[in-house]
Amino acid sequence: MNIRNPKQKTTGGDNIAWYSYYAGFSSDFVNSIIDGLQMPCTSIILDPWNGSGTTTLAASLRGISSIGIDLNPAMCVVAKSRIATHFDINTAEKKVKYARVTSFKNTLTNDDYLLNWFEYPVASYIRYLANYIYGRQSKLISDKINELSVHQCISYLALFKTVRGLLHSFKSSNPTWIKKKNDLGRVDVLNASLKSIFIHNIKEFYNHCNVRKNEIEPILLHGNSKKMMIDDNSIDYVITSPPYCTRLDYGIATSPELAVLLGDTIEIDMIRRALTGRTTIDRNLDTSEIFFPKVILDFLKSVKAHSSRASDTYYYKNLLQYFNDIKISLNEISRVVKKTGFFICVVQDSFYKDIYCDLPKMMISLAEYYGFSLNSQIHFESRTNMANINTISKNYRKNTHATESVLVFTKDK
Ligand SMILES: C[S@@+](CC[C@H](N)C(=O)[O-])C[C@H]1O[C@@H](n2cnc3c(N)ncnc32)[C@H](O)[C@@H]1O
Repeated sequence: MNIRNPKQKTTGGDNIAWYSYYAGFSSDFVNSIIDGLQMPCTSIILDPWNGSGTTTLAASLRGISSIGIDLNPAMCVVAKSRIATHFDINTAEKKVKYARVTSFKNTLTNDDYLLNWFEYPVASYIRYLANYIYGRQSKLISDKINELSVHQCISYLALFKTVRGLLHSFKSSNPTWIKKKNDLGRVDVLNASLKSIFIHNIKEFYNHCNVRKNEIEPILLHGNSKKMMIDDNSIDYVITSPPYCTRLDYGIATSPELAVLLGDTIEIDMIRRALTGRTTIDRNLDTSEIFFPKVILDFLKSVKAHSSRASDTYYYKNLLQYFNDIKISLNEISRVVKKTGFFICVVQDSFYKDIYCDLPKMMISLAEYYGFSLNSQIHFESRTNMANINTISKNYRKNTHATESVLVFTKDK
């Protein structure tokens, strides 16, 4: 099988170029898997950590049914907007043109997350635009996200881009971290300027959307890979990459997007604290009775015994929590994959200080525990090393390369 490097940019452009996302793999990679395994059009592909929706977009363009699940509502919106056609963008543009500039009903609460960065009138106007796109009463976040149309997702994506564009002064040296305060104070901008940037951003998508019509629309759901609303033995192929094991805070990384979508600080915090790979530790985390394969236990033991500060408390618990989440998700993946099905997974190795974290090996042992057999593995050297984002980690080792491993499993139980 001629598998493409997951991190190598897609030839001929990938429409994710319109919205920069650090954690994605390429459409070329997904296509090389679809071709390599000669997937029939009647197959169903699942990505339980769908992120920006590369798997579901590629499947859809190839006429294969797919389901994409992500727990971060912002990523669900990004994934849905990637299947947009010119028609969807046109619909979004027409609707947004009628949004008010001067007066609007103020629906901003005092703890609205946007107030971290924007002066009250600006935050208030952004909230008005966000509500205008949805056009209904607020509901449970899952219901809201799952019922958004493609053109509404395009409008949200343009509003994400507009908000991000105004947050230069809140960026930090870590590209996935947005500060809540800075010395220059909060952002002030005229409603009319904000609206015109917003409309400009919608129009920009004409240059990026699919020229090919989607053969089959994917099912894109806000949900948890630890408990999926999917029938047993119903999925032919899983193509995915789990959250990184490098304490990359997906919640903070997408805080401007979550602020636009939700506003409510408590709700945003709850989402952040539910994502696998979170930097926070659950209060009720039980560290006693968790089963792990030896390779994971050995790694956790080394972390716990490391002499650096908080290794035996915070870092040990945080990593244990990560592997526990991954373990529960793998059990779910095994439940939904058909007996003849495949599980294709992309993982990156890393270091904790100077301790090597052989995530591919750990993933293999967990997948085998849940009834998968390793069929093949291919390793690619990666320049996108998530561990490098944390500059302190460089104090512990010189080698900053990472290996991106593609693991192909078949189900055998
Ligand atoms: C490495 S990224 C996937 C990138 C994706 N392959 C792409 O091309 O964009 C992992 C994703 O898992 C999501 N995630 C984290 N915890 C989750 C959970 N418990 N259930 C579902 N998705 C989760 C994150 O929001 C993130 O989008």
